[in-house]
Amino acid sequence: MQRSRLANSYKFLHFDRFVFPMKLTFENRIALVTGAGRGIGRAIAEHLAAEGAMVICVSKNADSCGAVADAINQSGGKAQALAVDVADKVAVAAACEALLTEHTCIDILVNNAGITKDNLLIRMSEEDWDLVLTTNLSSVFYWTKGLIRPMTKKRFGRIINISSVVGLIGNAGQANYAAAKAGLLGYTKTLAREFASRAITANVVAPGFTATDMTAGLSPEVMEMAKKTIPLGRMGEAADIARIVTYLASEESGYITGQVFSVDGGMVM
Ligand SMILES: NC(=O)c1ccc[n+]([C@@H]2O[C@H](COP(=O)([O-])OP(=O)(O)OC[C@H]3O[C@@H](n4cnc5c(N)ncnc54)[C@H](O)[C@@H]3O)[C@@H](O)[C@H]2O)c1
Repeated sequence: MQRSRLANSYKFLHFDRFVFPMKLTFENRIALVTGAGRGIGRAIAEHLAAEGAMVICVSKNADSCGAVADAINQSGGKAQALAVDVADKVAVAAACEALLTEHTCIDILVNNAGITKDNLLIRMSEEDWDLVLTTNLSSVFYWTKGLIRPMTKKRFGRIINISSVVGLIGNAGQANYAAAKAGLLGYTKTLAREFASRAITANVVAPGFTATDMTAGLSPEVMEMAKKTIPLGRMGEAADIARIVTYLASEESGYITGQVFSVDGGMVM
């Protein structure tokens, strides 16, 4: 578990003799992270749990979210696994109903699950367009609809949607993915406006090239080309994304809403 490493690295700022505690507040908070079975989602789930949130780890595959929840529980954190296909609106609605019977409110919603089905537009099938739009964009609507009502009653909520730099600048071969990721920006800003009066914040994190299974299949040539476009000269780590998501999920981020945070080594500026 990351707890002691995190505690040592950024929970305290030392100024001369004085110590200013910077511990983030997650007491009694319940978070749900989609796509938590591996990669960025797993890192987000582990970071939130390390800060004290109870984390519901959602993945399409029961084994992968089960393994992540087990690892968190064995390390002294609190987690539950939930196998749901986020693209299946009936399954998501049923999952939300069951969750809200067990817990009165899911305080933090991190929509991270995402897929790619790349092709140049001329060769892109309608099926791949629909699948990427449903998985990466419509699913976010399904989870928000299913979980937001108790947040409005509680007058607390944190919604963090994981987009991509591709949603900001486009990318040849990813019309479906770019459209879905760009759609998240308008969607999140609208949520931010609609729910601000209930103290619910909604923000976007847009990762650049991040080392996960999603990018593991890229050829060494593509990787080298990609690195040349990154001023910091390296790919991101899942933890780079998890740290800002954890801050945006905390009590302390309550005056930040409707924003898009690129975490991309300076690729888009
Ligand atoms: N890795 C990158 O370079 C990068 C860059 C920008 C944005 N992103 C975004 O970050 C997010 C996480 O990416 P990653 O690199 O960790 O990807 P990944 O492929 O390693 O992991 C994605 C996770 O989402 C889950 N998932 C996919 N479809 C699902 C479905 N229908 N139902 C439930 N779970 C589903 C998978 O099981 C997996 O656990 C995605 O939204 C991705 O678009 C990634």
